[in-house]
Amino acid sequence: MKKAKAKFITFEGIDGCGKSTQAKRLVSRLNNEGIPALLTLEPGGTKIGSYIRKILLDPKNKDISELTELFLYLADRSQHMKEVIAPSLKKGMWIISDRFYDATLAYQGFGRGISRDFILMLNNHICEDIRPDITFLLDCPVEIAIKRRNRRDSDQDQIRFEQEDVIFHEKVRKGYLWIAEQFKDRVVIIDATRSVEEIEEFVFSKTKELLLRS
Ligand SMILES: Nc1ncnc2c1ncn2[C@@H]1O[C@H](COP(=O)(O)OP(=O)(O)OP(=O)(O)O)[C@@H](O)[C@H]1O
Ligand SMILES: [Mg+2]
Repeated sequence: MKKAKAKFITFEGIDGCGKSTQAKRLVSRLNNEGIPALLTLEPGGTKIGSYIRKILLDPKNKDISELTELFLYLADRSQHMKEVIAPSLKKGMWIISDRFYDATLAYQGFGRGISRDFILMLNNHICEDIRPDITFLLDCPVEIAIKRRNRRDSDQDQIRFEQEDVIFHEKVRKGYLWIAEQFKDRVVIIDATRSVEEIEEFVFSKTKELLLRS
């Protein structure tokens, strides 16, 4: 592939839809083509972010307030932007991020009901003029994503999930689809029920198109 300006690519979607699987594969494909690409994630893409991630993902912190949660995600993003994303892009390194700012709008905005305008304003403030060039939204029914997640996290075949979890993720899924509609120029919806290999090929072909556009 020809040399192009570094791109910023994000993977989004509800928990367990297949983001990490695809983000990793895309980075390997790019590196095999001689394109320097860095795999990163939110929350937790920096040292400070990894402390924040621990707080956010610790089941003992179930009682975290909605705004505390929002500000921790934003704090993580601010550090990630300053320390990793902005300087890497500047150096010509492609960034592949496993979740980015759409997640905050989908989870804290649509899932928890915090003002979308407030979140958009803060996201824009943190990112200044940096935007993802392309966002792959892996979309699938909530039940499928929960089953995948449970299968990954435990060896049991017996799958159990809470109704509350399903309702919350339905809201998040709708939020992501709303975002895709609003930002059609950069968000590509992918049917995440397709096989890992089919999705990988599709993602790579879209990425190549992006490369040719630059
Ligand atoms: N297209 C697919 N078809 C079937 N299984 C898949 C597919 N993509 C990923 N998986 C499997 O589903 C599980 C969840 O995938 P993965 O960890 O990539 O999801 P994720 O979106 O990163 O989840 P989380 O939001 O929890 O980080 C893994 O066990 C993975 O191997
Ligand atoms: Mg993941």
